[in-house]
Amino acid sequence: MAKVLVLYYSMYGHIETMAKSVAEGAASVEGVEVTLKRVPETMPREALEKIGAKVEHDVPEATVAELPDYDAIIFGTPTRFGNMAGQMRTFLDQTGGHWLGGKLIGKVASVFTSTATGGGNETTILTFWPTLAHQGMVIVGLPYAAQELLDISQPRGGSPLGAGMLAGPDGSRQASENELGQARFQGRHVAGIAKKLHG
Ligand SMILES: Cc1cc2nc3c(=O)[nH]c(=O)nc-3n(C[C@H](O)[C@H](O)[C@H](O)COP(=O)(O)O)c2cc1C
Repeated sequence: MAKVLVLYYSMYGHIETMAKSVAEGAASVEGVEVTLKRVPETMPREALEKIGAKVEHDVPEATVAELPDYDAIIFGTPTRFGNMAGQMRTFLDQTGGHWLGGKLIGKVASVFTSTATGGGNETTILTFWPTLAHQGMVIVGLPYAAQELLDISQPRGGSPLGAGMLAGPDGSRQASENELGQARFQGRHVAGIAKKLHG
């Protein structure tokens, strides 16, 4: 079995919803085992409660040590001023040992994101990619074969770099069918490549 990890950070739940759709898409590929995990929170619970962030989770935390166990990792992060969230950055900054040992070389990597208004829809993924390249990972985007990317009849996130959604300026918008479709496509696409590379 090729092993795919969907690894995300989500403060308000939008990326978590997208991550579940990515996992669903990946799981639809036969011969692929999918695991859904989140990166550890770095903010104090009290601060999170003050800003109405999610504090209870049913998805387990990942450890840095387990990353080499997977053939592919699909990362999900909300944007922070056009970059990944600090929680994801902190997690990745603990992978120096894997870099030193070449433990992630040749593994498939892909990124999806969420923005409030679309500012950072592409840059969040683009600025994520150098970390993956430094690790020697095989970076995969979201091809235009995903019909959702051709539909401009409604506001949406997402680009050929990876699935995306718009949470709205006040965070009240939920992922549309289009955006969830992108997420499922990306999961299926990455899982298919991971399976081929796994042999
Ligand atoms: C510090 C900070 C910076 C943010 N920067 C941006 C931004 O540059 N562009 C944008 O559209 N949304 C921005 N947002 C909004 C988040 O991206 C949005 O809340 C997130 O996509 C929701 O995902 P989540 O529910 O998974 O946490 C920012 C939010 C915070 C807290």
